[in-house]
Amino acid sequence: MRTTVLRPRVRTAALAASVALMLGLAAAPAADAASAHRPETATLDQLAHKTGRYFGAAVDNPELADTDFAKILGSEFGQTTPGNGMKWYATEPQRGVFDFTAGDEIVKFAQSNGMKVRGHTLLWHNQLPSWLTSGTWTADELRSILKNHITHVVKHYKGKVFAWDVANEIMNEDGTYRENIFYKTIGPSYIADALRWARAADPRVKLYLNDYNVEAIGPKSDAYYKLIKQLKAEGAPIDGFGMQAHLALQYGFPDRLQENIQRFADLGVDVAITELDIRMLLPSDAAKLAEQADWYGRVTDACLTVKRCVGITVWGYTDRHSWIPSVFPGEGAALPWDENLAHKPAYDAIHDALAKAAAAKKD
Ligand code: G3I
Repeated sequence: MRTTVLRPRVRTAALAASVALMLGLAAAPAADAASAHRPETATLDQLAHKTGRYFGAAVDNPELADTDFAKILGSEFGQTTPGNGMKWYATEPQRGVFDFTAGDEIVKFAQSNGMKVRGHTLLWHNQLPSWLTSGTWTADELRSILKNHITHVVKHYKGKVFAWDVANEIMNEDGTYRENIFYKTIGPSYIADALRWARAADPRVKLYLNDYNVEAIGPKSDAYYKLIKQLKAEGAPIDGFGMQAHLALQYGFPDRLQENIQRFADLGVDVAITELDIRMLLPSDAAKLAEQADWYGRVTDACLTVKRCVGITVWGYTDRHSWIPSVFPGEGAALPWDENLAHKPAYDAIHDALAKAAAAKKD
């Protein structure tokens, strides 16, 4: 088993949690108690900002009605990503009929709170409208549908989002192309074309490929490394690589994360941690929360160490609103705030890592 070296504040929080457990208290009040003793007031984004990065959190539209939740979202984070609101099923529910209501609501929230927005996502195999998935298309027809979709959506959000996940989850675990509708109908050329159409619609927005299980060095990240190198050689507009980072304690920390981030940066693209969460087998306990905190700190450190790692986004920030329990029954507690919106040890670990880097920047 890997020995976990905990940072001082994480140790304090973990200790507080253990003491609370001994006293028969739940984990949440313990995390609360640890946070209550923290003297500093800088938010995660303020600290990240000092290092030239952002710290963000994704949000799904219905969550904005939760006012306590929205208050923290708007104050602690400098960037947001719509969890669903800019996906194809939401933005083009009928062919040629565009609906930007959900995405616009999040852009408006972001603007009124001084937050940047990552656009997510122009093409994905999931959450496509049924008119698209149930149709039978020739390669030319689907190319034209894809071009029209990308052009409309990117133009609508021009100047409002700073980056787009142009293509999401286009590789299999073994590094072969995922056989999504675009690959099956058009072939792999849809990727470079999608990037070019997005660039034509907004010359300034940063264009990303984004996927999960690419944080470690392995066949899937190798495939992206090769693809991005090839796209660059062809002159296709690729600006960034998004590592989603949906991690799980039971599967181990991603092997050589920092080295992996660095090799993409060395290709001449930005890297972002786009959907960070770290789930565990429930119930959570002090030891798991301490290990989770350590992982959050390590992911943050890895990004902070690579100049072109431009920011970190957590996929939601609180266990109150998370996609995990419905997809992985028996797992959860993945985020830095608990369901009562109290800080968990993970929050302190992120804060520590950012504060250290921000202080070093001043020197
Ligand atoms: O819109 C319907 C609503 O009408 C219905 O009443 C409700 C009942 O279940 O479902 C609603 O749809 C849900 C949708 O989110 C909008 O809330 C779907 O069931 C649910 O499956 C869907 O989950 C989203 C998931 O992507 C879909 O795969 C999550 O919220 C979203 O966080 C998640 O995000 C993805 C990223 O886009 C890509 N990377 C992985 C990440 C986590 O799965």
